[in-house]
Amino acid sequence: MGKKIKVFAPATVANVACGFDVLGFAVDSPGDELIVEMTDRPGIQIVEITGDEGKLPRTAEANTAGVAIQQLITQVAYTGGVKISLHKKMPMGSGLGSSAASAAAGAFAMNELLGRPFDTEDLVPFAMEGERLACGTAHADNVAPALMGGFVLIRSYDPLDIIPIDTPKELIATVIYPQIEVATKDARQILQKKVPLTDAITQWGNVAGLVTGLLKSDYALIGRSLQDVIIEPVRSLLIPGFQEVKMAAMEAGALGCAISGSGPSLFSLSQDKATAQKVAEAQQAAFLKLGIESNTYVSPVNQNGPVVIG
Ligand code: HSE
Repeated sequence: MGKKIKVFAPATVANVACGFDVLGFAVDSPGDELIVEMTDRPGIQIVEITGDEGKLPRTAEANTAGVAIQQLITQVAYTGGVKISLHKKMPMGSGLGSSAASAAAGAFAMNELLGRPFDTEDLVPFAMEGERLACGTAHADNVAPALMGGFVLIRSYDPLDIIPIDTPKELIATVIYPQIEVATKDARQILQKKVPLTDAITQWGNVAGLVTGLLKSDYALIGRSLQDVIIEPVRSLLIPGFQEVKMAAMEAGALGCAISGSGPSLFSLSQDKATAQKVAEAQQAAFLKLGIESNTYVSPVNQNGPVVIG
């Protein structure tokens, strides 16, 4: 048997309201588990996928973890083979960065097996190719926090410039996943390609306000800045009960609430765990009133990114 590793990579909240494609953070759970084994036979072989209800393709070229690994091994001219087993421990099409967690796990695991030829940040472009496969665009606001942990700003895509942002320790995220599916590809296609200048001014004011609020632990500023006047008005139409569930979070004491990634999950930020828990319960009740079941996750901003678990 060849060298083998089992890793966990976390779910992520992308966009964070005002930062479409440029802001994201990782949460402690849920996430994906991936086992990667080096073999003599060249090529990447998917041995097993569990937890995907049979929805994911079984060929490596069509799988985000497979694509990320392929990108990495091409760069280092590794000539052996790889076997992977993917255990999806998080919902797909949920806005929690499911495809990104698999891609991040793949790039991270392969890098570990090869003796870390790359720094973690340099793995991001490999995992971004997984996103290109999953939704047609190689955005980094899920894969960068999934790989690096923490809260990140993608200041630029060309060249790629990723800035980790410190967050207050007490900051807690609530994520609620209503059991409906929204494909990122569809949720990107419905977006307007041009933005009125007045909306752009509001949005970049909020991005700067959010980052400043996080760095200064200014909760009121964080709350005021968690607003999205460009994407949310369009995408919220895909989420039944969006306004009611958002209002439930605000009434329960959240600093702010918006769509997580491309939805249908919503995320909220709170100043302490008790409030974050209250937000989860209030939102779950609001969805239930509309007959929609949901799962909730309460977590601080994950600081680790992927970890070796076996
Ligand atoms: N920034 C991406 C989008 C994240 O909103 O389409 C997808 O999860």
